Amino acid sequence: MRVASRSAELTERAGRVIPGGVNSTNRVLPWPFVAAEAEGAYITDVDGKRYLDYHAAFGPFVLGHRHPRVNAAVKDALDRLDLVGAGVTELEVLLAEKIVEHVPSAERVLLTNSGSEATYAALRLARAVTGRNDIVKFQGTYHGWHDAVLMNVISKPERVGHKDPLSLGMLPEAVDHTHVLPWNDADAVEALLRDRGETIAAIFVEVIPHNIGCVPPRPGYLARLRDLADAYGVVLIFDEVITGFRHDLGGYQRIAGVTPDLTTLAKAMANGYPIAALVGHAELMDRFAPGGGVLFAGTYNGHVVGVSAALATIAELEDGTVHAHAARLARRAADGLAQLASEFGIPMTVAVFGSVFVPYFMDGAIESYTDLLRNDDAADVAFRRTMAERGVFMIPTALKRNHVSAAHTEGDIDRTLEVARDALRDLPTR
Ligand SMILES: Cc1ncc(COP(=O)(O)O)c(C=O)c1O
Repeated sequence: MRVASRSAELTERAGRVIPGGVNSTNRVLPWPFVAAEAEGAYITDVDGKRYLDYHAAFGPFVLGHRHPRVNAAVKDALDRLDLVGAGVTELEVLLAEKIVEHVPSAERVLLTNSGSEATYAALRLARAVTGRNDIVKFQGTYHGWHDAVLMNVISKPERVGHKDPLSLGMLPEAVDHTHVLPWNDADAVEALLRDRGETIAAIFVEVIPHNIGCVPPRPGYLARLRDLADAYGVVLIFDEVITGFRHDLGGYQRIAGVTPDLTTLAKAMANGYPIAALVGHAELMDRFAPGGGVLFAGTYNGHVVGVSAALATIAELEDGTVHAHAARLARRAADGLAQLASEFGIPMTVAVFGSVFVPYFMDGAIESYTDLLRNDDAADVAFRRTMAERGVFMIPTALKRNHVSAAHTEGDIDRTLEVARDALRDLPTR
């Protein structure tokens, strides 16, 4: 049978040898898509179609794809070293020192290769130091794919208020030990801690829940979590896998002025290269040192590729111009979309924080996951799909965020708004 395009052909072949045709479940798209090249703010598929990229591979690209100075740093490091797996390298020392310099909660740094590994290590440490087993997460947050946290992200309305695991095969006891509470409701946290604080090891906080777009914490909410964690001897963990480096070199914790006990970092840390970190207070983190009783390991931890990329990425972010540029353009995109929606009478609230913007297809306040149940998901997905068809890549999943990088230009935003004008005009709404 003849296939229509190279993307279709490769997608079909992928489906025969890769389960679902993708290497991470949420990469599945409703149309064949096979990337061939990426540069700056653009990706090109194997059929030569070019897209302006706001998906940014779920968030790492803060400088843009294949950033020349980051790539040069990686190539240079690879000319000298790869992986030794004994002792430490000078680059690992430099990176740990850099992170300690910038991130308020970081007195010690351990490197992993993915955010999930970092949150897993945080969980183990919290259980070890408290001698408790339960943890708290919030409806709408994602902390990786392991059993203790893989639940209640984008839940169907009838699953809100119940455990909503995202996979079969998760250990029921692990799911049982996680309490899921509504986001932005410190009273709910206090009530749980009053009731059973002596069983709670950790509170996992995605400081801005970007896995449901952009729902910032209410003023004072994070400080209250800090106080509650202190009062009940609970480890406060800020998951800054998305927000760290993207919003500020010190993470959102520096912006909010609230310092957690442990922090997980990844994504924008190395502009697309695989590396993540668990950082935190010395007295906790040193339990991972020999004699501390808590094990931390990984063959590829501290690989020269991720470490050199992280050092180069941080260097690019240090003068603040990247953050200022991306935030200005994200605001321009958000304002433009809101203006277009109002012209066409489409209910829309565009959330924006720093370089992230999210058009929600709904009116009114958005402070919790329950508020987002009012989103017109069909319109949201239809809009994204039309944008992608017309060369502006926004992942076609409702509630997902868009990322602006240093490589996006004012012209890119203006073109996005032109394409959005047509997409919104043609939009079927409920
Ligand atoms: C807030 C947050 N924490 C943890 C993770 C897991 O990171 P990884 O996909 O690198 O395992 C993600 C991934 O999207 C995330 O958004």
